[in-house]
Amino acid sequence: MKLNLGCGHSRMDGFVNVDKFPSPACDEIVDLESLPWPWLDSSVDEVVLCHVLEHLGADTPVYLGIIKELWRVCRDGALILISVPHPNHDHFLWDPTHVRPITWEGLRMFDQERNREWIAAGSPMTPLGLHVGVNFRLEHVQFILDEPWASRERDKTIPPDELQFAMKHYHNVISEMIIRWRAVKP
Ligand SMILES: C[S@@+](CC[C@H](N)C(=O)[O-])C[C@H]1O[C@@H](n2cnc3c(N)ncnc32)[C@H](O)[C@@H]1O
Repeated sequence: MKLNLGCGHSRMDGFVNVDKFPSPACDEIVDLESLPWPWLDSSVDEVVLCHVLEHLGADTPVYLGIIKELWRVCRDGALILISVPHPNHDHFLWDPTHVRPITWEGLRMFDQERNREWIAAGSPMTPLGLHVGVNFRLEHVQFILDEPWASRERDKTIPPDELQFAMKHYHNVISEMIIRWRAVKP
């Protein structure tokens, strides 16, 4: 089974399209903040969360519960494709239903291998994967740049180190992140 969670009006063929509000695109009405989710353990091969995760889990225990449910329903190796507005962009700030900034670094906190490395190194980072009992591997992050940065990168009119500096320190440089995440199960 493949899940398109928080589908809104964007139906994906071959997926079970899920939202808390009914629409012609939607196959199942589910409030993703109401736990547990209605799907069986290890029953899902792929999950799409396109501009949805930032709408969920304003309350941290609920957010962690959602991450736990995501891991429970995924089979080993399941792909989770996450698109989110960058928290340092107006697109994130404008919408009052954006309740949780999502960062790739934050998602990497649910990687148990990394958690064990932190513990061994005496790092103060919270080993969230071990605490919550989930394990996800971050596979790839694509940064979608806003203008004028996208054009400057495409035209090679900005040195790479200058762009890296802008991406890290300035507002409205990265508009969106597309993240590939994998469920890792025993
Ligand atoms: C910005 S829209 C994205 C819609 C679609 N994924 C797309 O890319 O066009 C966010 C969607 O998440 C849904 N959503 C927000 N909170 C939800 C919840 N607790 N449970 C299920 N869906 C939720 C909203 O109803 C809305 O359809």
